[in-house]
Formats: sequence, C-alpha cells, structure tokens
Amino acid sequence: MGAGEEWTGGVSGFEEMWRALAPVGRSGESGGYFRQPWTAAEGELRAWFAEQAAARGLTLETDGLGNAVAWWRPEGATGRHVLTGSHLDSVLDGGAFDGPLGVVSALAAVDLLRDRGHTPTRPIGIAVFVEEEGSRFGRACLGSRLVTGATTWAAARELRDRDGVRLDDALAAADLGPTGDDARWPSLTDDAHAFVELHVEQGRHLVDLGEPVGVASGIWPHGRYRLDVVGEANHAGTTRMEDRHDPMLTYAMTALAAAKQARLAGQRATFGRVEVTPNGTNAVPSRVTAWLDARADSEAALEALVADIARQATDRAGRDGTTLTLTAESVSAEVRFDPDLAARIAAGDDARADWPLLPTQAGHDAGILSAAGVPTAMLFVRNPTGISHSPAEHAETADCLAGVEALADTLARLTT
Ligand code: GLV
Ligand code: MN
Ligand code: MN
Repeated sequence: MGAGEEWTGGVSGFEEMWRALAPVGRSGESGGYFRQPWTAAEGELRAWFAEQAAARGLTLETDGLGNAVAWWRPEGATGRHVLTGSHLDSVLDGGAFDGPLGVVSALAAVDLLRDRGHTPTRPIGIAVFVEEEGSRFGRACLGSRLVTGATTWAAARELRDRDGVRLDDALAAADLGPTGDDARWPSLTDDAHAFVELHVEQGRHLVDLGEPVGVASGIWPHGRYRLDVVGEANHAGTTRMEDRHDPMLTYAMTALAAAKQARLAGQRATFGRVEVTPNGTNAVPSRVTAWLDARADSEAALEALVADIARQATDRAGRDGTTLTLTAESVSAEVRFDPDLAARIAAGDDARADWPLLPTQAGHDAGILSAAGVPTAMLFVRNPTGISHSPAEHAETADCLAGVEALADTLARLTT
C-alpha cells in the first residue's frame, strides 16, 4: 500500500506483502522455508525489503552484515528513535511467520499510522536483523549480537557453517563484510528510545486465553552447547559388543538423560542436530557431535540443568570408554522486558489495547537489544496450534491484522 492510499482495514497491504514473500526460499517438498543468511533466498528477501522501503519513501540504512533499518523520519521527528521490526531468516525448514511477521507488520503499521494522519515526533526505524536463528553459523541472534557488541567481529569472523565456509567468506560472497575490525552499529542502540518487536507466538498461551495479541514479560535464559564424543571406529560385524568404544551410545544415553532431566525439572532440553563420523552403516562411528539447546526459567536452573546433563553424559562416557567435551557456543541471560513499556502496551488507553502479559522460552533480537540497555517490548500474535520452527507454523490473517493495529497503537504512543 502506498503512503497516500487509504487504509482499508489493512487486508490488502498486509496480504500483498505476505503473498510476495510466500515463495521465497520455500521447499517444494515440505512447504517449509530455507532462508539461511547470505544465501540467494535471503538476498531476495533483503532486496524485497529495500523495495518496500523505497516504495514508502523510507530511508534505508544498512551495515556490512546485511542488517537494515528503513527510517521514517518526517519533518519534526527528532531525538531518540523508536525501532520496530524483526528478522527475515528462518530455521532450516521453518515456518513463514517467525521473523517475517514482525517485518511485514511493521511496514503495515507505518502505512496505518500514515493513513491515520499520525506524524511521529521521533524517527521510527523498521529493522531487519540477520542470522537471528543462528541456523547457518550456529550463534543465536548473530546480527544483533554483532551490532550491539555482545559478540565481537574478531570472534565471529572465523565461524564456519556446515560446509566449512567462514563467516568472512560467506559475507564476501554476498558482497558484504564489515569494514575494519568492528561490526558494531552504536547509534542504533545508543540513540534508541525503545524497540518493539512483533512476533508470532511460539506456544499456546494466547489460544488458551482467547486473545489475538499478547505482550511479552521476558525471555527464559537459554543456551546452545556442543557435545563432542570421541570413540573408536571399528567393524560393525566383527567387533564384539563388549569390546566397543561407541560414541553413539554415549550420545544416545545423553539425549535420553537430557529429556528426562528437563521434564523432571519443568525446563527444556533438545538435541536437534547430530553429526556422525564417518556416518557409515557398517562401522562403529569414531565421533559424534551433537548440539544441546537448553532453556530454563532462571539462570540458576539453567546452570543446574546443563550441569546435570553433563554429569550423566560423563558417567556414561566412562562406561563406554569414550571421551566427551561439552562446549557452550552461545548463552543468553534471562531477559526481563521493560516493565513500564510492557504495562503501557498491555493496558493502553483504549479497550482494544488490553493485552495479556506472557513469558516466552524463545530467543529474539529484542532480548539482545534489551541486554544492551534499550527499553524493549514484544507483541505476540496468536498461533492457533502453537507450532513454530516448523512448516506448520501459522497465524490467521485477522489475528495478524490485530497485531498490526496493536503495533501501530504502540508506535503512536511512543512517538506522540
Ligand atoms: C529462536 O527462535 C530460538 O528461540 O531459538
Ligand atoms: Mn525462531
Ligand atoms: Mn523469530
């Protein structure tokens, strides 16, 4: 929808953008999305975002990583900016909504504010952060971590993807790359008045509450840990069971122990990625590398959960005659979103803005900006099944449009 056109309840503008994104990076087999950073699919999404910014007369600012902000800075909009937006990358075989919903809704919210005749007193920036999912280089929220300095470029540039491609080289192949040794974007956070990220809910709180929109109270602490188990390669037929040093057994028992431990403690533990060397049917493997994703409702509980899993894994490695190391790859501290901002959004000045407050176990760029000192809030849009990080992820258009309204109301309050 163009800046001068009438807002018709939002269906046309929102759906048009949604339709444009639908085929990008979509698997013909599963219907899921493969929008890994610095690939052709993700490049197409970044180009789409630049077009959307240009069509609205927004000023696009980008960095050497591919992070982008489209600025609405009409005359009179001065001082600290309000950021919104989200990410366009996906997990492997992900859903359409995790990330893009926040970007499309931000564009639609700006259209709606213009149609309402709102002139912001502060600049509004629609941000797109790269590699939020860490699906390619393994670090959650890598774009926003680098922008805020939570991760340094010196530490990140050597990261390798599954094919051994260094981050440095992946960026160069996409005609990107930070200049010098710094990937930070200090003004983004230093000059921020607030960041509000809209996201599809990744759970069923809103379904159970019968509400289309909610406000996040905080994010559970969570982390990614690499488990390396080294054993002894040997023949699958001729090696007696009692003579083996099989890392697969150590890994398998660790996965079972992690699930049990998390269930007993009311926390979360997942092994979603495994690499087996040499990965042959008729050989005891020499090595298994697996990644543990652990989340808990407090930092102490997360530490205890990971320590318990590590202890059980080490015991089992002793019995299997394997060696084991567990390495933390990225750990995110607990996030408590700005309570004043959340309360202002949750209990706004009209009945429509009476949204429930919810905690979440999912990580977001909003958590990274919050940790960098930016007053931050999140809006969630109802997900009828609660399924996420899956091709089955969904949100109804009517709920998405309620999200756009809630975001527009929030941005209006923050820029009046
Ligand atoms: C991101 O979606 C995460 O929680 O891993
Ligand atoms: Mn996600
Ligand atoms: Mn997301």
